[in-house]
Amino acid sequence: MSSVPILPTAELHVHIEGTLEPELALRLAVRNRTPLRSTELDDLRRAYSFRDLQSFLDLYYELMAVLQRPEDFVDLADAYLARAAAQGVRHAEVFVDPQAHLARGVPLEVVMEGLGEAFARAEERHGMSARLIACFLRDRDPDEAEALLPRLLPYRGLVIGVGLDSAEVGFPPERFERVFARAADEGLHRVAHAGEEGPPAYVRSALDRLGVERVDHGNRSLEDRDLVARLREEQLPLTVCPLSNVALRTVARLEDHPLPAMLAHGLLATVNSDDPAYFGGYLHDNVTAVTRALGLTAEQRRRLAENSFRASFLPEEVKSRHLDAVAAA
Ligand code: ADE
Ligand code: ZN
Repeated sequence: MSSVPILPTAELHVHIEGTLEPELALRLAVRNRTPLRSTELDDLRRAYSFRDLQSFLDLYYELMAVLQRPEDFVDLADAYLARAAAQGVRHAEVFVDPQAHLARGVPLEVVMEGLGEAFARAEERHGMSARLIACFLRDRDPDEAEALLPRLLPYRGLVIGVGLDSAEVGFPPERFERVFARAADEGLHRVAHAGEEGPPAYVRSALDRLGVERVDHGNRSLEDRDLVARLREEQLPLTVCPLSNVALRTVARLEDHPLPAMLAHGLLATVNSDDPAYFGGYLHDNVTAVTRALGLTAEQRRRLAENSFRASFLPEEVKSRHLDAVAAA
């Protein structure tokens, strides 16, 4: 089968902890003497089969235990950046879950020092730029998110925004209204996972109550015609993750994925990898998979690459340079 050409792209929905490949998890477990459920790669791989978002999150939080020291976060980010760059990613806005690390006794400084070091040399090493979006865990108390926000402010420059992730259903966005308002006052960008498993009302709440500038996933928006019209009119970006949706069974088969419908509705959809070490591929693996399953045209792939830069938080002049590179590719 002929290969799908790689285009310069921005990745806007990838969790750094979700780039922890099982091989690296085992290596870090040895280095840090962290007990894991198994020391065998094949055994560990058998756990990578999910029923839904929660069954994935259980493994995702479990394996994070190996991330203990700044050098662990450097190795994690270096591996992601190298793989992403090889798949055409020229700019990445990467999620991190600070509360998941704080809750297991790893200081914020350790996380930021490690990721900051890898990101700072991404341009020179990998020919790409990278910034962080710190996510609040929506299944924890909003007070905890409010306590975290001021601790993120010293890392401005590296941390360009806040997000909302983890278990969705039962944890609607409006619980986080106050902390998102404070983040806005601080000039931080705002995004939220919504409409992955949760209903269209959660997407509306993310827009109206949190003031998000992008919606992460947003698939279930398609169930609400008025919401679709609003997303189109306001060109509010959706960061769509096709392989993730199949792995977590929010979409039965890639052939049923709503991406073509999103594009047909004129929505600013982008393709992303979410948790590539868990869901079977990095950014271009997602593009290739949807191209094969859904027959995406070269024009649609170009549109997706353009959308990714338009939806990014890059300055306008930098966006223009990237858009020129897509046009020239
Ligand atoms: N954290 C990591 N991946 C996630 C996803 N796909 N949805 C919600 N929270 C997450
Ligand atoms: Zn996600």
